[in-house]
Amino acid sequence: MSKLKIMSVFGTRPEAIKMAPLVKHLATLPEVESICCLTGQHREMLDSVMDIFNLRGDYDLNIMQTRQTLSSITSRTILGMDEVIEQAQPDLILVHGDTSTTFAGALAAFYHKIPVGHVEAGLRTWDKYSPFPEEMNRTLVGDIASLHFCPTRNNLRNLDQEGVRGDKFITGNTVIDAMKTTVRPDYRFQTGELNELDFSNRRVIALTCHRRENYGEAMRNIMEAVRELVETHPEIDVVYPVHLSPVVRECAFGILSGIPRVHLIDPIDVEEMHNLMARCYFVMTDSGGLQEEAPALGKPVLVLRRETERPEAVRAGTVKLAGVEKARILELANELLNDPAAYEAMAHAVNPYGDGNACDRIARAILWHFGKSEDRPEDFGSSDCE
Ligand code: UD1
Ligand code: UDP
Repeated sequence: MSKLKIMSVFGTRPEAIKMAPLVKHLATLPEVESICCLTGQHREMLDSVMDIFNLRGDYDLNIMQTRQTLSSITSRTILGMDEVIEQAQPDLILVHGDTSTTFAGALAAFYHKIPVGHVEAGLRTWDKYSPFPEEMNRTLVGDIASLHFCPTRNNLRNLDQEGVRGDKFITGNTVIDAMKTTVRPDYRFQTGELNELDFSNRRVIALTCHRRENYGEAMRNIMEAVRELVETHPEIDVVYPVHLSPVVRECAFGILSGIPRVHLIDPIDVEEMHNLMARCYFVMTDSGGLQEEAPALGKPVLVLRRETERPEAVRAGTVKLAGVEKARILELANELLNDPAAYEAMAHAVNPYGDGNACDRIARAILWHFGKSEDRPEDFGSSDCE
């Protein structure tokens, strides 16, 4: 029997972290030939993930440019993928999430009439400009894809509500699979600054901030809130691995550099990041991935955005939407620092996003869809987030 040729396409840090365990799992299946096409939308941050998971791309479009525009990412990916698809002739193309790589990868597959599987399908805010451009990217991929791998029941309902067609599965999020290999109690940090932090006696806050819709005033508000928080709390340290986007770096370093106890460091690899979260006091972030990871580690999260497409952990009580106004961010952060009961109410481990078996469910769903197995996988039961 001929093997099913599955090409996974990804290019940014979060896609790589969440696709790596799936790519590795697919490679173990006798029915499958698993290959990877990297767009290189992120260069350094993608390579760091590939190194940690010991993976290599079979194709690399290497599209990244400094201060790249959405149009350049999209057009360079589509053009690059034309050639790759002609050469590789995959039976299925997998894309992940909501980046420009995701959208352009799916569109290129569609132009070649190759079926698309969408991993992390069905997340929605219902606001096309927030997150921008991610909400529209994932909505458009929903129409293109034939297989939809929804992390939670709530995500599946979103697709049903839109009338999206195709085979839909509730699988859990693959990032929880990835965390099985990255989080270790005896982990030793490679980054000097992280080794010097006293996690036992001081309160360490892990911060990330990079979203396009936060560029400008919102990001300045966030940085100013962090500056005031540190200045008013001598017991805290803030660790901020600053994204490589020049827009983000100008804002972060402009407002926070030189402030004592704010540690502005370069992006850290995913093992460092997951273990930093496991040891910190709480997390402040506008990242999507961190909103899924921190709850699994029992860490409170303040989301530095106006909305979230991940309401499950908000409902579970571990995540609060802090918005992008300085006063409200400070109010919620102060509450976590000053009120032990408020802290305890948020600091419990919940796993609405997965049980660590998402890759296995996705693989079994693919085999079932292509008639290589008779067993449709059971849905991941995400009862605590319904
Ligand atoms: C992209 C995704 C966003 C995701 C984020 C994860 C889009 C439109 N946005 O946003 O959904 O949340 O990745 O981090 O797809 N850069 C480097 N080296 C790197 C990575 C980035 O120098 O390894 C710099 C480049 O100058 C690049 C800029 O960062 O032009 C912005 O990168 P880009 O991928 O366009 O946007 P992100 O904000 O990273
Ligand atoms: N991450 C990392 N190093 C960092 C910051 C984040 O490895 O310095 C990881 C984080 O743990 C999560 C992913 O990158 O798995 C999230 O990526 P990002 O916040 O860039 O994108 P988003 O999830 O918002 O799309």
